Amino acid sequence: MNIEPEARKIECDFSKARIDWIPSDPELAQFWNAVSIGLPLLEGYLIRALAKAKKHLPEGREDLYADCELFCKQEANHSKTHMAFNDMVRATGYYPEMDKYTDRLREDYARFDRERGLRHAMLYAEGFETAGPIFASYFLVQANKRLKDQDVDLITLSLWRWHLSEEFEHRCCAFNVVEALYGTYWGRIGGIIKATSHLLGFAVPLSEYMLREDLKAGRMTGGFKGLVRKFKSYSGMFFFITPRLLRAFSPWYNPKNLKEPEGCEAVLRVASETLDLNLMAARARETV
Ligand SMILES: [Fe+2]
Ligand SMILES: [Fe+2]
Repeated sequence: MNIEPEARKIECDFSKARIDWIPSDPELAQFWNAVSIGLPLLEGYLIRALAKAKKHLPEGREDLYADCELFCKQEANHSKTHMAFNDMVRATGYYPEMDKYTDRLREDYARFDRERGLRHAMLYAEGFETAGPIFASYFLVQANKRLKDQDVDLITLSLWRWHLSEEFEHRCCAFNVVEALYGTYWGRIGGIIKATSHLLGFAVPLSEYMLREDLKAGRMTGGFKGLVRKFKSYSGMFFFITPRLLRAFSPWYNPKNLKEPEGCEAVLRVASETLDLNLMAARARETV
């Protein structure tokens, strides 16, 4: 990438953003909304892990220390922006039981903090960070297709494009820290399985709940058409993500060798120039 990595503190106003930001694919939008709702808790756990791990790095790894600092700043910015989006979702009052799901997730991370050490946290972080660039590739490909839809909400779309492009940018940090501290192949595999199953175990039930509430209130149509839509978007994600995740199981896997997703650099460039999600949305069609 020909752009200097940096922590971009992004201004945002979600008052005009939409929950159904992909009107033609509401199930896919709700899946990503559910992920967004859990992200501040998840990223909080990663930040605590990396902030602690950087103090245990071998001598002479100032480069990695600096990477950890950038990682923590970028993740904190992601969390803050997703919290603003999540507040908008919560304020609609459409999903009264939403906080029950986040309470359970919060309790999981509190338990990990209490009962598991830094090694668990770092392997979990690395597992999640392995999925990050794959989600980035998936999302930038899908997002670029969605930009052709005139009615897609570009503010929410820009949130994900910016966030996942930064995930690609800092993809090596957790991997390098785990290599420096533990150098464990099987631990790394366990981390990928643990982090992705934990995230899905949160996001799938929550998005199912949100979809049920939408159906009940008549905000979307279900029936056979809805089933077909859901099957298409879930299977599309599954067939994109699974083989790439399995490739990361290779002992020779190193995230530095991953191909940059198309559009990633352009998204980051606009993000650096504007530092504003609404301005990024206005320029979204420039970056396809
Ligand atoms: Fe993030
Ligand atoms: Fe990340």
